[in-house]
Amino acid sequence: MGQTVFIPRELDANEPRVAASPDTVKRLAGLGFDVVVETGAGTRSRIPDEEFAKAGAAIGKAGDVAKADVVLKVRRPSDAELKSYKSGAAVIAIMDPYGNDAAVAALAKAGVTAFSMEFMPRITRAQSMDVLSSQANLAGYQAVIDGASEYDRALPMMMTAAGTVPAAKVFIMGVGVAGLQAIATARRLGAVVTATDVRPAAKEQVASLGAKFLAVEDDEFKAAETAGGYAKEMSKEYQAKQAALTAEHIAKQDIVITTALIPGRPAPKLVSAAMVASMKPGSVLVDLAVERGGNVEGAEAGKVVTTANNVKIVGHLNVPGRVAASASLLYAKNLFAFLETLVDKTTKTLAINRDDDLVKATMLTDAGKVVHPAFAKAAEQPYVEPAAIPATTMVADASVAPKKAASKRAAASKSSSSKPKGTA
Ligand code: NAI
Repeated sequence: MGQTVFIPRELDANEPRVAASPDTVKRLAGLGFDVVVETGAGTRSRIPDEEFAKAGAAIGKAGDVAKADVVLKVRRPSDAELKSYKSGAAVIAIMDPYGNDAAVAALAKAGVTAFSMEFMPRITRAQSMDVLSSQANLAGYQAVIDGASEYDRALPMMMTAAGTVPAAKVFIMGVGVAGLQAIATARRLGAVVTATDVRPAAKEQVASLGAKFLAVEDDEFKAAETAGGYAKEMSKEYQAKQAALTAEHIAKQDIVITTALIPGRPAPKLVSAAMVASMKPGSVLVDLAVERGGNVEGAEAGKVVTTANNVKIVGHLNVPGRVAASASLLYAKNLFAFLETLVDKTTKTLAINRDDDLVKATMLTDAGKVVHPAFAKAAEQPYVEPAAIPATTMVADASVAPKKAASKRAAASKSSSSKPKGTA
Protein backbone atom coordinates (compact mmCIF):
# COMPACT_ATOMS: atom_id res chain seq x y z
CA MET A 1 0.00 0.00 0.00
CA GLY A 2 1.21 3.47 -0.87
CA GLN A 3 1.39 6.53 1.31
CA THR A 4 -1.74 8.60 1.70
CA VAL A 5 -2.41 12.18 0.60
CA PHE A 6 -5.45 13.75 2.23
CA ILE A 7 -7.27 16.85 0.99
CA PRO A 8 -9.59 18.28 3.66
CA ARG A 9 -12.53 20.60 3.22
CA GLU A 10 -11.45 24.12 4.20
CA LEU A 11 -13.27 25.12 7.40
CA ASP A 12 -12.84 28.90 7.15
CA ALA A 13 -16.16 30.35 5.94
CA ASN A 14 -14.16 32.81 3.85
CA GLU A 15 -12.26 30.10 1.98
CA PRO A 16 -14.01 28.49 -0.98
CA ARG A 17 -10.82 27.16 -2.57
CA VAL A 18 -9.60 23.56 -2.41
CA ALA A 19 -6.04 22.23 -2.60
CA ALA A 20 -6.61 19.56 -5.27
CA SER A 21 -8.31 19.20 -8.62
CA PRO A 22 -9.32 16.09 -10.57
CA ASP A 23 -6.18 16.65 -12.66
CA THR A 24 -3.83 16.74 -9.65
CA VAL A 25 -5.59 13.75 -8.05
CA LYS A 26 -4.74 11.74 -11.17
CA ARG A 27 -1.15 12.94 -11.04
CA LEU A 28 -0.84 12.19 -7.31
CA ALA A 29 -2.06 8.67 -7.93
CA GLY A 30 0.54 8.45 -10.70
CA LEU A 31 3.23 9.27 -8.14
CA GLY A 32 2.10 6.24 -6.12
CA PHE A 33 -0.09 7.94 -3.51
CA ASP A 34 -3.47 6.79 -2.25
CA VAL A 35 -5.54 9.97 -2.48
CA VAL A 36 -8.39 10.69 -0.09
CA VAL A 37 -10.55 13.80 -0.54
CA GLU A 38 -12.89 14.86 2.25
CA THR A 39 -16.50 14.87 1.11
CA GLY A 40 -17.58 18.35 0.01
CA ALA A 41 -14.00 19.66 -0.20
CA GLY A 42 -14.48 20.90 -3.76
CA THR A 43 -18.10 22.00 -3.59
CA ARG A 44 -17.40 25.73 -3.38
CA SER A 45 -14.92 25.45 -6.25
CA ARG A 46 -17.46 23.59 -8.37
CA ILE A 47 -15.71 20.25 -8.07
CA PRO A 48 -18.23 17.65 -6.85
CA ASP A 49 -17.08 14.52 -4.99
CA GLU A 50 -17.87 12.42 -8.10
CA GLU A 51 -15.28 14.30 -10.16
CA PHE A 52 -12.60 13.57 -7.59
CA ALA A 53 -13.73 9.94 -7.39
CA LYS A 54 -13.63 9.58 -11.17
CA ALA A 55 -10.05 10.86 -11.09
CA GLY A 56 -9.12 8.08 -8.67
CA ALA A 57 -9.63 9.55 -5.20
CA ALA A 58 -11.42 7.86 -2.34
CA ILE A 59 -14.01 10.16 -0.78
CA GLY A 60 -13.52 10.29 2.97
CA LYS A 61 -14.42 12.17 6.10
CA ALA A 62 -12.50 14.75 8.17
CA GLY A 63 -11.16 12.10 10.58
CA ASP A 64 -9.32 10.34 7.75
CA VAL A 65 -6.59 12.95 8.12
CA ALA A 66 -5.26 10.79 10.97
CA LYS A 67 -3.94 8.29 8.39
CA ALA A 68 -2.44 10.88 6.06
CA ASP A 69 1.28 11.13 5.33
CA VAL A 70 0.69 14.32 3.33
CA VAL A 71 -2.05 16.91 3.86
CA LEU A 72 -2.70 19.45 1.11
CA LYS A 73 -4.54 22.55 2.27
CA VAL A 74 -5.29 26.12 1.27
CA ARG A 75 -5.06 27.67 4.75
CA ARG A 76 -3.00 26.77 7.79
CA PRO A 77 -4.75 24.09 9.90
CA SER A 78 -6.21 25.35 13.18
CA ASP A 79 -5.19 23.95 16.55
CA ALA A 80 -8.41 21.94 16.61
CA GLU A 81 -7.70 20.45 13.18
CA LEU A 82 -4.09 19.65 14.11
CA LYS A 83 -5.29 17.41 16.96
CA SER A 84 -6.19 14.72 14.41
CA TYR A 85 -3.03 15.03 12.28
CA LYS A 86 -0.44 12.27 12.36
CA SER A 87 2.88 13.35 13.86
CA GLY A 88 5.44 13.41 11.05
CA ALA A 89 2.90 14.22 8.33
CA ALA A 90 3.90 16.77 5.69
CA VAL A 91 1.41 19.65 5.57
CA ILE A 92 1.53 22.01 2.59
CA ALA A 93 -0.52 25.23 2.60
CA ILE A 94 -0.46 29.04 2.62
CA MET A 95 0.65 29.17 6.26
CA ASP A 96 0.47 32.94 6.80
CA PRO A 97 3.04 32.77 9.60
CA TYR A 98 3.91 36.49 10.07
CA GLY A 99 2.46 37.74 13.34
CA ASN A 100 1.05 34.27 14.02
CA ASP A 101 3.82 32.81 16.18
CA ALA A 102 1.44 30.87 18.42
CA ALA A 103 -0.02 29.12 15.38
CA VAL A 104 3.48 28.32 14.07
CA ALA A 105 4.36 26.90 17.49
CA ALA A 106 1.21 24.76 17.36
CA LEU A 107 2.34 23.26 14.04
CA ALA A 108 5.67 22.36 15.63
CA LYS A 109 3.95 20.89 18.68
CA ALA A 110 1.76 18.71 16.48
CA GLY A 111 4.96 17.25 15.04
CA VAL A 112 4.05 18.01 11.44
CA THR A 113 6.50 19.08 8.77
CA ALA A 114 4.79 22.26 7.63
CA PHE A 115 5.59 24.03 4.36
CA SER A 116 4.62 27.65 3.70
CA MET A 117 3.95 27.89 -0.04
CA GLU A 118 4.15 31.70 -0.07
CA PHE A 119 7.88 31.44 0.71
CA MET A 120 8.65 29.60 -2.52
CA PRO A 121 11.70 31.25 -4.07
CA ARG A 122 11.11 33.05 -7.37
CA ILE A 123 13.58 30.99 -9.37
CA THR A 124 12.93 29.35 -12.71
CA ARG A 125 12.68 25.82 -11.26
CA ALA A 126 9.93 26.91 -8.88
CA GLN A 127 7.83 29.00 -11.24
CA SER A 128 5.13 26.34 -11.46
CA MET A 129 4.94 26.31 -7.63
CA ASP A 130 4.51 30.08 -7.19
CA VAL A 131 1.15 30.41 -5.42
CA LEU A 132 1.58 34.16 -4.97
CA SER A 133 1.73 34.60 -8.73
CA SER A 134 -1.06 32.20 -9.62
CA GLN A 135 -3.44 33.70 -7.08
CA ALA A 136 -2.40 37.36 -7.60
CA ASN A 137 -2.98 36.99 -11.32
CA LEU A 138 -6.62 36.04 -10.70
CA ALA A 139 -6.99 38.69 -7.99
CA GLY A 140 -5.87 41.36 -10.46
CA TYR A 141 -8.45 40.19 -12.95
CA GLN A 142 -11.21 40.00 -10.34
CA ALA A 143 -10.39 43.48 -8.96
CA VAL A 144 -11.31 44.97 -12.34
CA ILE A 145 -14.49 42.90 -12.53
CA ASP A 146 -15.44 44.00 -8.99
CA GLY A 147 -14.62 47.62 -9.81
CA ALA A 148 -16.65 47.51 -13.02
CA SER A 149 -19.65 45.98 -11.27
CA GLU A 150 -19.69 48.69 -8.57
CA TYR A 151 -19.28 51.41 -11.22
CA ASP A 152 -22.57 52.66 -12.63
CA ARG A 153 -21.31 53.60 -16.09
CA ALA A 154 -19.95 51.59 -19.00
CA LEU A 155 -16.20 51.01 -19.34
CA PRO A 156 -15.69 51.05 -23.12
CA MET A 157 -16.34 54.02 -25.31
CA MET A 158 -19.61 53.45 -27.16
CA MET A 159 -20.64 55.52 -30.15
CA THR A 160 -24.34 55.06 -30.65
CA ALA A 161 -27.10 56.81 -32.56
CA ALA A 162 -28.25 58.18 -29.23
CA GLY A 163 -24.88 59.64 -28.38
CA THR A 164 -21.40 58.71 -27.18
CA VAL A 165 -20.50 57.05 -23.90
CA PRO A 166 -16.93 58.03 -23.00
CA ALA A 167 -14.38 55.36 -22.04
CA ALA A 168 -13.80 54.99 -18.30
CA LYS A 169 -10.43 56.05 -16.88
CA VAL A 170 -8.79 53.33 -14.80
CA PHE A 171 -5.64 53.88 -12.71
CA ILE A 172 -3.67 50.90 -11.38
CA MET A 173 -1.33 51.57 -8.43
CA GLY A 174 1.30 48.86 -7.99
CA VAL A 175 2.04 46.78 -11.07
CA GLY A 176 3.38 43.44 -9.89
CA VAL A 177 1.57 40.29 -10.97
CA ALA A 178 -1.91 41.48 -9.88
CA GLY A 179 -1.46 44.98 -11.28
CA LEU A 180 -0.30 43.75 -14.68
CA GLN A 181 -3.30 41.46 -14.99
CA ALA A 182 -5.55 44.34 -13.88
CA ILE A 183 -4.12 46.51 -16.66
CA ALA A 184 -4.69 43.79 -19.25
CA THR A 185 -8.26 43.17 -18.05
CA ALA A 186 -9.21 46.86 -17.92
CA ARG A 187 -7.76 47.36 -21.41
CA ARG A 188 -9.80 44.42 -22.76
CA LEU A 189 -12.89 46.08 -21.32
CA GLY A 190 -12.06 49.22 -23.26
CA ALA A 191 -10.94 51.52 -20.44
CA VAL A 192 -8.23 54.16 -20.78
CA VAL A 193 -5.58 52.80 -18.42
CA THR A 194 -2.72 54.46 -16.53
CA ALA A 195 -0.50 52.82 -13.93
CA THR A 196 2.19 53.60 -11.38
CA ASP A 197 4.86 51.69 -9.46
CA VAL A 198 8.11 52.42 -7.66
CA ARG A 199 10.13 49.78 -9.56
CA PRO A 200 11.66 50.97 -12.86
CA ALA A 201 11.17 47.51 -14.40
CA ALA A 202 7.43 48.13 -14.25
CA LYS A 203 7.64 51.03 -16.70
CA GLU A 204 8.30 48.92 -19.79
CA GLN A 205 5.80 46.24 -18.76
CA VAL A 206 3.08 48.85 -18.39
CA ALA A 207 3.86 50.30 -21.82
CA SER A 208 3.87 46.84 -23.42
CA LEU A 209 0.29 46.35 -22.20
CA GLY A 210 -0.80 49.58 -23.84
CA ALA A 211 -1.16 51.63 -20.67
CA LYS A 212 0.53 54.90 -19.74
CA PHE A 213 3.11 54.94 -16.92
CA LEU A 214 3.10 57.66 -14.31
CA ALA A 215 5.76 57.86 -11.57
CA VAL A 216 8.30 60.03 -9.81
CA GLU A 217 11.41 58.81 -11.63
CA ASP A 218 14.20 60.14 -9.40
CA ASP A 219 17.38 58.38 -8.20
CA GLU A 220 15.50 56.60 -5.43
CA PHE A 221 13.08 55.17 -8.01
CA LYS A 222 16.03 53.88 -10.04
CA ALA A 223 17.20 51.88 -6.97
CA ALA A 224 13.82 50.76 -5.64
CA GLU A 225 13.86 47.16 -6.86
CA THR A 226 15.39 44.52 -4.56
CA ALA A 227 17.39 41.55 -5.86
CA GLY A 228 14.26 39.43 -5.37
CA GLY A 229 12.31 41.71 -7.73
CA TYR A 230 10.24 43.21 -4.92
CA ALA A 231 9.79 46.86 -3.93
CA LYS A 232 11.58 48.58 -1.06
CA GLU A 233 9.87 50.80 1.42
CA MET A 234 10.27 54.34 0.01
CA SER A 235 11.56 57.37 1.94
CA LYS A 236 9.21 59.99 3.37
CA GLU A 237 10.49 62.46 0.73
CA TYR A 238 9.71 60.09 -2.12
CA GLN A 239 6.29 59.31 -0.68
CA ALA A 240 5.46 63.02 -0.51
CA LYS A 241 6.55 63.55 -4.14
CA GLN A 242 4.57 60.51 -5.26
CA ALA A 243 1.48 61.70 -3.37
CA ALA A 244 1.72 65.14 -5.00
CA LEU A 245 2.00 63.57 -8.46
CA THR A 246 -0.83 61.08 -8.04
CA ALA A 247 -3.25 63.37 -6.16
CA GLU A 248 -4.03 65.40 -9.26
CA HIS A 249 -4.34 62.28 -11.40
CA ILE A 250 -6.63 60.38 -9.01
CA ALA A 251 -9.14 63.26 -8.98
CA LYS A 252 -9.78 62.59 -12.68
CA GLN A 253 -10.11 58.79 -12.48
CA ASP A 254 -13.29 56.69 -12.57
CA ILE A 255 -11.81 53.50 -11.13
CA VAL A 256 -8.61 53.18 -9.06
CA ILE A 257 -7.21 49.73 -8.29
CA THR A 258 -4.45 49.47 -5.70
CA THR A 259 -2.23 46.40 -5.32
CA ALA A 260 0.93 47.80 -3.67
CA LEU A 261 2.74 45.54 -1.22
CA ILE A 262 6.15 45.39 0.41
CA PRO A 263 7.30 41.96 1.65
CA GLY A 264 7.05 41.55 5.43
CA ARG A 265 5.70 45.11 5.93
CA PRO A 266 2.28 46.71 6.16
CA ALA A 267 0.97 47.91 2.79
CA PRO A 268 2.02 51.47 1.88
CA LYS A 269 -0.74 54.07 2.16
CA LEU A 270 -1.06 55.49 -1.36
CA VAL A 271 -4.48 57.12 -1.41
CA SER A 272 -5.41 59.56 1.37
CA ALA A 273 -8.91 60.46 2.48
CA ALA A 274 -8.40 63.84 0.78
CA MET A 275 -7.64 62.09 -2.53
CA VAL A 276 -10.76 59.94 -2.16
CA ALA A 277 -12.78 63.09 -1.44
CA SER A 278 -11.42 64.69 -4.63
CA MET A 279 -12.93 61.95 -6.83
CA LYS A 280 -16.22 62.36 -8.71
CA PRO A 281 -19.38 60.81 -7.21
CA GLY A 282 -19.82 57.29 -8.58
CA SER A 283 -16.08 56.63 -8.78
CA VAL A 284 -14.78 53.36 -7.37
CA LEU A 285 -11.58 52.33 -5.58
CA VAL A 286 -10.67 48.66 -5.22
CA ASP A 287 -8.06 48.00 -2.53
CA LEU A 288 -6.41 44.62 -3.07
CA ALA A 289 -3.99 45.30 -0.20
CA VAL A 290 -6.78 45.60 2.38
CA GLU A 291 -5.78 42.39 4.20
CA ARG A 292 -2.34 43.87 4.81
CA GLY A 293 -3.60 47.19 6.17
CA GLY A 294 -4.73 48.69 2.86
CA ASN A 295 -3.40 51.19 0.32
CA VAL A 296 -6.51 53.37 0.56
CA GLU A 297 -7.42 55.36 3.63
CA GLY A 298 -10.94 54.41 4.68
CA ALA A 299 -10.88 50.94 3.10
CA GLU A 300 -12.42 48.31 5.36
CA ALA A 301 -11.58 44.63 5.15
CA GLY A 302 -14.54 42.62 3.91
CA LYS A 303 -16.68 45.68 3.10
CA VAL A 304 -17.72 48.04 0.33
CA VAL A 305 -17.66 51.48 1.94
CA THR A 306 -19.55 54.41 0.40
CA THR A 307 -18.01 57.77 1.33
CA ALA A 308 -19.82 61.07 1.95
CA ASN A 309 -19.11 62.15 -1.65
CA ASN A 310 -20.51 58.86 -2.99
CA VAL A 311 -17.25 57.17 -3.87
CA LYS A 312 -17.14 53.44 -3.23
CA ILE A 313 -14.12 51.80 -1.63
CA VAL A 314 -14.16 48.05 -2.27
CA GLY A 315 -12.27 45.96 0.31
CA HIS A 316 -13.21 42.37 -0.41
CA LEU A 317 -11.30 39.69 1.49
CA ASN A 318 -9.73 36.72 -0.27
CA VAL A 319 -10.18 38.09 -3.78
CA PRO A 320 -8.74 34.96 -5.48
CA GLY A 321 -11.49 33.07 -3.63
CA ARG A 322 -14.04 35.17 -5.56
CA VAL A 323 -12.94 33.23 -8.64
CA ALA A 324 -12.54 30.04 -6.65
CA ALA A 325 -13.13 27.55 -9.46
CA SER A 326 -10.24 29.01 -11.45
CA ALA A 327 -8.06 29.77 -8.42
CA SER A 328 -8.33 26.22 -7.06
CA LEU A 329 -7.19 24.63 -10.32
CA LEU A 330 -4.03 26.76 -10.41
CA TYR A 331 -3.37 26.44 -6.68
CA ALA A 332 -3.76 22.65 -6.84
CA LYS A 333 -1.24 22.51 -9.67
CA ASN A 334 1.23 24.67 -7.69
CA LEU A 335 1.01 22.24 -4.75
CA PHE A 336 1.38 19.19 -6.94
CA ALA A 337 4.47 20.63 -8.65
CA PHE A 338 6.10 21.13 -5.23
CA LEU A 339 5.03 17.79 -3.75
CA GLU A 340 6.44 16.01 -6.79
CA THR A 341 9.91 17.29 -5.81
CA LEU A 342 9.52 15.71 -2.35
CA VAL A 343 8.91 12.21 -3.68
CA ASP A 344 11.45 9.51 -4.51
CA LYS A 345 10.27 8.27 -7.92
CA THR A 346 11.77 4.80 -7.48
CA THR A 347 10.43 3.91 -4.05
CA LYS A 348 7.30 6.04 -4.63
CA THR A 349 7.50 7.43 -1.11
CA LEU A 350 8.16 10.82 0.46
CA ALA A 351 11.85 11.61 0.60
CA ILE A 352 12.23 15.22 1.76
CA ASN A 353 15.69 16.54 0.95
CA ARG A 354 16.26 19.09 3.70
CA ASP A 355 19.22 20.57 1.77
CA ASP A 356 17.11 21.46 -1.26
CA ASP A 357 16.71 25.23 -1.69
CA LEU A 358 12.95 24.96 -2.13
CA VAL A 359 12.62 22.93 1.08
CA LYS A 360 14.92 25.26 3.01
CA ALA A 361 12.94 28.30 1.91
CA THR A 362 9.49 26.92 2.68
CA MET A 363 9.86 24.52 5.63
CA LEU A 364 8.41 26.14 8.75
CA THR A 365 8.39 23.29 11.25
CA ASP A 366 9.97 19.85 11.36
CA ALA A 367 10.31 17.09 13.98
CA GLY A 368 8.66 19.14 16.71
CA LYS A 369 10.60 22.36 16.09
CA VAL A 370 10.13 25.68 14.32
CA VAL A 371 12.96 25.48 11.77
CA HIS A 372 12.44 28.45 9.42
CA PRO A 373 15.13 31.06 10.16
CA ALA A 374 12.58 33.90 10.16
CA PHE A 375 10.55 32.23 12.91
CA ALA A 376 12.89 29.89 14.82
CA LYS A 377 14.19 32.75 16.97
CA ALA A 378 10.71 34.08 17.72
CA ALA A 379 9.74 30.59 18.91
CA GLU A 380 12.31 30.92 21.73
CA GLN A 381 11.57 34.55 22.65
CA PRO A 382 8.51 36.55 23.68
CA TYR A 383 6.75 38.01 20.64
CA VAL A 384 7.32 41.75 20.07
CA GLU A 385 7.32 42.51 16.36
CA PRO A 386 4.11 44.36 15.25
CA ALA A 387 4.60 47.58 17.27
CA ALA A 388 8.14 47.80 15.90
CA ILE A 389 6.93 47.97 12.28
CA PRO A 390 7.33 51.55 11.08
CA ALA A 391 4.28 53.15 9.50
CA THR A 392 4.63 53.54 5.73
CA THR A 393 2.05 56.25 5.37
CA MET A 394 2.18 58.35 2.21
CA VAL A 395 -0.62 60.57 3.36
CA ALA A 396 0.49 64.15 2.92
CA ASP A 397 -2.14 65.64 5.23
CA ALA A 398 -1.31 63.26 8.10
CA SER A 399 -5.00 62.83 8.78
CA VAL A 400 -4.49 59.26 9.96
CA ALA A 401 -4.44 59.56 13.74
CA PRO A 402 -1.50 57.62 15.22
CA LYS A 403 -3.89 55.46 17.25
CA LYS A 404 -5.89 54.46 14.22
CA ALA A 405 -2.76 53.74 12.22
CA ALA A 406 -1.43 51.53 15.00
CA SER A 407 -4.63 49.55 15.30
CA LYS A 408 -4.74 49.14 11.52
CA ARG A 409 -1.20 47.79 11.58
CA ALA A 410 -2.12 45.36 14.32
CA ALA A 411 -5.14 44.27 12.31
CA ALA A 412 -2.94 43.89 9.25
CA SER A 413 -0.48 41.66 11.02
CA LYS A 414 -3.26 39.56 12.53
CA SER A 415 -5.41 39.19 9.44
CA SER A 416 -5.24 35.93 7.55
CA SER A 417 -3.63 37.52 4.54
CA SER A 418 -3.29 35.47 1.41
CA LYS A 419 -0.15 37.35 0.49
CA PRO A 420 2.40 37.42 3.29
CA LYS A 421 5.82 36.92 1.82
CA GLY A 422 9.49 37.57 1.89
CA THR A 423 11.97 36.67 4.54
CA ALA A 424 12.01 39.08 7.43
P1 NAI B 1 3.92 42.55 -4.68
O1 NAI B 1 2.64 41.83 -4.56
O2 NAI B 1 4.94 42.40 -3.61
O3 NAI B 1 3.63 44.11 -4.84
C1 NAI B 1 2.79 44.62 -5.84
C2 NAI B 1 3.41 45.80 -6.50
O4 NAI B 1 3.35 46.94 -5.63
C3 NAI B 1 4.88 45.65 -6.87
O5 NAI B 1 5.03 45.85 -8.26
C4 NAI B 1 5.58 46.74 -6.07
O6 NAI B 1 6.70 47.29 -6.75
C5 NAI B 1 4.46 47.75 -5.91
N1 NAI B 1 4.69 48.76 -4.87
C6 NAI B 1 5.23 48.62 -3.63
N2 NAI B 1 5.27 49.79 -2.99
C7 NAI B 1 4.73 50.72 -3.82
C8 NAI B 1 4.49 52.12 -3.72
N3 NAI B 1 4.83 52.80 -2.63
N4 NAI B 1 3.93 52.74 -4.78
C9 NAI B 1 3.60 52.06 -5.89
N5 NAI B 1 3.79 50.73 -6.03
C10 NAI B 1 4.36 50.07 -5.02
O7 NAI B 1 4.60 42.22 -6.08
P2 NAI B 1 4.51 40.90 -6.96
O8 NAI B 1 3.26 40.88 -7.71
O9 NAI B 1 4.80 39.74 -6.11
O10 NAI B 1 5.69 41.14 -8.00
C11 NAI B 1 6.98 41.54 -7.57
C12 NAI B 1 8.01 41.24 -8.64
O11 NAI B 1 8.26 39.86 -8.76
C13 NAI B 1 7.64 41.70 -10.04
O12 NAI B 1 8.79 42.24 -10.62
C14 NAI B 1 7.26 40.45 -10.74
O13 NAI B 1 7.40 40.57 -12.14
C15 NAI B 1 8.27 39.51 -10.14
N6 NAI B 1 7.89 38.11 -10.27
C16 NAI B 1 8.84 37.20 -10.61
C17 NAI B 1 8.53 35.87 -10.74
C18 NAI B 1 9.58 34.89 -11.10
O14 NAI B 1 10.66 35.27 -11.50
N7 NAI B 1 9.34 33.62 -10.96
C19 NAI B 1 7.17 35.38 -10.51
C20 NAI B 1 6.25 36.42 -10.15
C21 NAI B 1 6.61 37.71 -10.03
